[in-house]
Amino acid sequence: MNRANSSAVQPITVCLIDGDGIGKEVIPAAARVLEALNLGIAFTHAEAGWECFERQGTALPEETKAAIRAASATMFGATSSPSTKVAGYSSPVLAMRKLFDLYVNLRPTMSLPGSPDGIDLLIVRENTEGLYSGRERREGDTAITERVITVRASERIARYAFEAAQKRMRKHVTIVHKANVLKETDGLFRECCLRVAADFPDVGYDELLVDACAMWLVKDPRRFDVIVTTNLFGDILSDEAAGLIGGLGVAPSANVGAAGVAYFEPVHGSAPDIAGKGIANPVGAILSTAMLLDHVGCAEAARRVESSVQRALADGIRTRDLGGDASTEQMTQAVLDRLA
Ligand code: NAI
Ligand code: MG
Repeated sequence: MNRANSSAVQPITVCLIDGDGIGKEVIPAAARVLEALNLGIAFTHAEAGWECFERQGTALPEETKAAIRAASATMFGATSSPSTKVAGYSSPVLAMRKLFDLYVNLRPTMSLPGSPDGIDLLIVRENTEGLYSGRERREGDTAITERVITVRASERIARYAFEAAQKRMRKHVTIVHKANVLKETDGLFRECCLRVAADFPDVGYDELLVDACAMWLVKDPRRFDVIVTTNLFGDILSDEAAGLIGGLGVAPSANVGAAGVAYFEPVHGSAPDIAGKGIANPVGAILSTAMLLDHVGCAEAARRVESSVQRALADGIRTRDLGGDASTEQMTQAVLDRLA
């Protein structure tokens, strides 16, 4: 969709959900950037996460679901999830992905000033099943998590990945799995990807076992264009990829489905170790707004945001995680100053 050319342009509404920890610092920063673009975006605010659970007894209240549904897109910060089971609590992130069938998790990794150059890869991660099926149980001394892989989810994520590759310069997909060991689940995932690949004669592809892929990401990240993989593998590989360009503080992501709902979030979590200190890197959240802008048809504004971030970093303004001493506020202001 190109908003500039569409005759009846609907105003864009963005639902802001800070969540926990540094979400409360980086989402307001991202919102300032969206606001400064003068696109007439209307903002709504909603609650989700651990503190919301403590206050309201639910990590994803009904009003929040309604606000996400009503918005053109949502910006989400992070949630703190305890590592032990807490009665009544479940991650709002997983709940949103399931509820709105947000089957694609997009995690781009692009070289930034200060990181090695020539890296431009996109991890397309299946977002609804695999080892995050939620089917877990204890049987005496044994704990079991079911790894669920379906034809429907595998084919649609593969199709999304090949379509995404078609729009990129190198037009290449690497199918990542562990079918040599996980013969049933990843065997099926691999079969589905290969079947879809046949529908895209203009897109090249290869396949890699996930452990080898992890090694190649470190040794030669420039060989990758689009990577398509299952849920947990995509989660891990994308954090690894973020490490190539400065770490979690700069990594953006998108969660999209077929029904029009989408939310955008930095890859990092609530970072309790630095929360409340005003030093969190807002770049991951700000680059997530660029993905949001692309999603709502504002590609030009998206490129403006990206280039402002790049120029701010190139001018040496960096938060501590990148070796600098800028605060969240200073980093955000540096991006705002370069938006013009
Ligand atoms: P984390 O991403 O919150 O932090 C990992 C490390 O990276 C920490 O040392 C943190 O200070 C640093 N870091 C992360 N983002 C940063 C930023 N923007 N600027 C500067 N430094 C940054 O992951 P961690 O510590 O494993 O998890 C903390 C909490 O976050 C947990 O409760 C976890 O469940 C939750 N989490 C939530 C996610 C989400 O909401 N989507 C994703 C990952 C974790
Ligand atoms: Mg992760």
